[in-house]
Amino acid sequence: MSGNEKAWGGRFAGATAELMERFNASIGFDRKLLEVDLAGSLVHAQALERAGVLTDEEVAQIHAGLEQVRAELSAPGHAFSAGLEDIHMAVERRLTELIGPLGGKLHTGRSRNDQVNLDERLYLREAIAGIRLRLRHLQEVLADSAEAHLEVILPGYTHLQQAQPILFGHYALALFWMLERDQGRLEDAWKRADFLPLGAGALAGSAYPLDRQFMARELGFSGVTPNSLDTVSDRDFLLEALAALAILMMHLSRFCEDLIIWSTREFGFVELADAFSTGSSMMPQKKNPDSLELVRGKTGRVYGDLFSLLTTMKGIPLTYAKDMQEDKEPLFDAFGSVQDCLEVFAGAWQTMQLRPARMEAAVDDAALATDLADYLARRGMPFREAHHLVGRLVRFALEAGRGLRGLTLEELQSHSPAFGQDALSLLDLRHSLDLRNIEGGTGPEAVRTQLARARAVLET
Ligand code: ARG
Repeated sequence: MSGNEKAWGGRFAGATAELMERFNASIGFDRKLLEVDLAGSLVHAQALERAGVLTDEEVAQIHAGLEQVRAELSAPGHAFSAGLEDIHMAVERRLTELIGPLGGKLHTGRSRNDQVNLDERLYLREAIAGIRLRLRHLQEVLADSAEAHLEVILPGYTHLQQAQPILFGHYALALFWMLERDQGRLEDAWKRADFLPLGAGALAGSAYPLDRQFMARELGFSGVTPNSLDTVSDRDFLLEALAALAILMMHLSRFCEDLIIWSTREFGFVELADAFSTGSSMMPQKKNPDSLELVRGKTGRVYGDLFSLLTTMKGIPLTYAKDMQEDKEPLFDAFGSVQDCLEVFAGAWQTMQLRPARMEAAVDDAALATDLADYLARRGMPFREAHHLVGRLVRFALEAGRGLRGLTLEELQSHSPAFGQDALSLLDLRHSLDLRNIEGGTGPEAVRTQLARARAVLET
């Protein structure tokens, strides 16, 4: 085989167009799979020995050759030519140059179709572990932040209109639990990917008695895939992981949105650190929350990665088709983006300044209206009626140019005789929060219990 000849060149009389060669090549991006490709090849060689195809001496030579290939191809400046097509061919080509015709025996009983599937699973395992580690770190940042500012009071919103007062600790822990579900989704995605595809061959199963259970054990899989057609067609494991990442990004993006609004002069609830802000080229006064805007922006990109692969997969007749080579860039892009976003978001959160006085002062008295209605309901008034009555009271206070807390007992009682002496004491933020010590609520005791629960999660 000469230097430029294709591994599959026997069938061909003519050369590949240079344009086609570039168009066909995935080596520009799948070189990322070098390590996992080598890991798979080392084990495949051992399986070939157990199947009686290679001697132990040959396996030793192949192993030594692959180590040399690793050293050369992983060198930072190493340039791959497009003619090598993909990482699988690049490894085999260099191995053959190094150890001679024996290198050509390595591909016995294997296809790039099961090989690429294996590489992607191995890549996915590490990529998921990397994301989960960064998720853990962010969860720790959130738990620490919840603890440090547990009793800071701020308005809680629905429809971006003030709803009821909440504690900052409760708010920070809301994201903690979202991320905990993200952890679960990623863990779950891996469970369904945790099967060895090698042995599926091109599509019909390898014609050599490769010990798939052995290979699975060696590569750390908990089992082997049950159907060779399904195996080489399958990219569900990537799609599930991308879906989990898309949801994770949606979570971060919503908190970015809150913090961006909160960092405006109008709100002033938080101030981002200089380290996670940037300025304007024209307006000297500007300090912009670009870190959070970019995380929000990259959410669209990660959704795009998921949709790109879903769309690629939807019309492919069983089993493999080259369309599936398009799976790698969205995969790498999504994991790379989410990794960066988790780190940046954690940094921005950890270093931002809270403005507790601004937060508490921003709570509108009307946010206590539910408590007044509840008060009447506890005294036997149907809640609907109480709701209506307090609504009128809010309007009365507004028209009088006062907040609910500016009303006198007489004014309350003129709306309903059910208001007793104790009604005025209801109009207090801390009292409102104390009413909500139900498990999962924003009362201080409940939030402390919740924090302990979060800490317990972190310890496992
Ligand atoms: N580079 C290909 C990919 O990424 C590897 C599999 C090619 N298989 C084939 N029969 N052409 O999907």
